Amino acid sequence: MCEKFFTLSLLFLLLISSTSACDRCVHQSRAAYFSSASTVAAGACGYGSMAMGFNGGFVAAGSSVIHRGGIGCGACFQIRCKDTRVCTRGGVKVTLTDLNKNNDTGFILSSSAFRGMARNGMVQDLNKLGILDVEYKRIPCEYKNQNLSIRVEENSRRPNYLAIKFMYQGGQTDIVGVDVARVGSSNWQFMNRDHGPVWSTNQAPVGSLQFRLVVTSGYDGKWIWTRNAVLPMDWKTGSVYDLGVKVTEIAQEGCNPCHRQDWE
Ligand SMILES: *[C@@H]1O[C@H](CO)[C@@H](O)[C@H](O)[C@H]1NC(C)=O
Ligand SMILES: *[C@@H]1O[C@H](CO)[C@@H](O)[C@H](O)[C@H]1NC(C)=O
Repeated sequence: MCEKFFTLSLLFLLLISSTSACDRCVHQSRAAYFSSASTVAAGACGYGSMAMGFNGGFVAAGSSVIHRGGIGCGACFQIRCKDTRVCTRGGVKVTLTDLNKNNDTGFILSSSAFRGMARNGMVQDLNKLGILDVEYKRIPCEYKNQNLSIRVEENSRRPNYLAIKFMYQGGQTDIVGVDVARVGSSNWQFMNRDHGPVWSTNQAPVGSLQFRLVVTSGYDGKWIWTRNAVLPMDWKTGSVYDLGVKVTEIAQEGCNPCHRQDWE
C-alpha cells in the first residue's frame, strides 16, 4: 500500500521533471559573467561561500529553466561560446550554484569559468565581448575524491528537526526522494525538499542515522542506500558528513532525436 503510493508519487515527480527537461540536449543560449565572486556565493541554491570551492570555482547561475526551482542545483553543464575565433570548441564544465533571474541570459558564469572558454591569448577579447552566444548541455558531474555528502544546516534542532544539504552529487540525475531512519531500524521517515539541495523533516529519529534516496536513473528511479551511521547521535550543525556512496546514475530523458546531436 505504502509502496504503491510511493511508486505513483515518484512517477508523478518524474513526469513533472521531464516536461521541462531535455537538458542533456545541446541548447542555444547566452552567457555573461559575474564581476565579483561574492555574487555567486550569495546563491539561490544556498551553498553560500562553499560554492566557490566547487569544481575549482567553475560555477554558474542558470536561468529558471536551468535552475528548475532548485532541482538543478549542483547539476553540471558543458558550455562553449560560438565565436570560434575567441573560444575553444571544448568550452568549460561548470556546476550550477545559483539562479540567474534574468531570462535573457541562460548562464552567468564565475569569471574564471568565463575566461576558461577562451582560446590562448584571447581572454581580453572574450572579456570585451561581455555577453556571448553559447551552446550548452547537461553532463554528468564527476567527483573523484568525494563521496555524496550532507551538511547539517544551522536551523536543525534536536531532537527531531533535521535539515540537510546535499553536496558532491555525481552523475546526471536528480534526487527525488530522501528517507531517514535510526541505524538498525526499518522505520523510515521521509524528508521534504525545502529548497534546492536542502531537505528536512521535523520527525527525525533520535540516535545515529542512516539515509536512503531515490534518484532518477535510466527512464525510471533507483534507490541508493547510504552506509550505516552517516550521522552520529551527536550530529553537529555546520558539519559535513560522508554518505559513503558515490552517485553515478544517469537519467535518460524522452527527448529523441537530440541524443544524436553530438558535441564535436
Ligand atoms: C523567467 O521565466 C520564468 C519561467 O518561464 C518566469 O516564471 C519568470 O517570471 C521569468 N522572469 C522574468 C524576470 O521575466
Ligand atoms: C567513500 O566511501 C567509501 C565507502 O564507504 C569509503 O571507503 C571511502 O573512504 C570514501 N571516500 C572518501 C573520499 O571519503
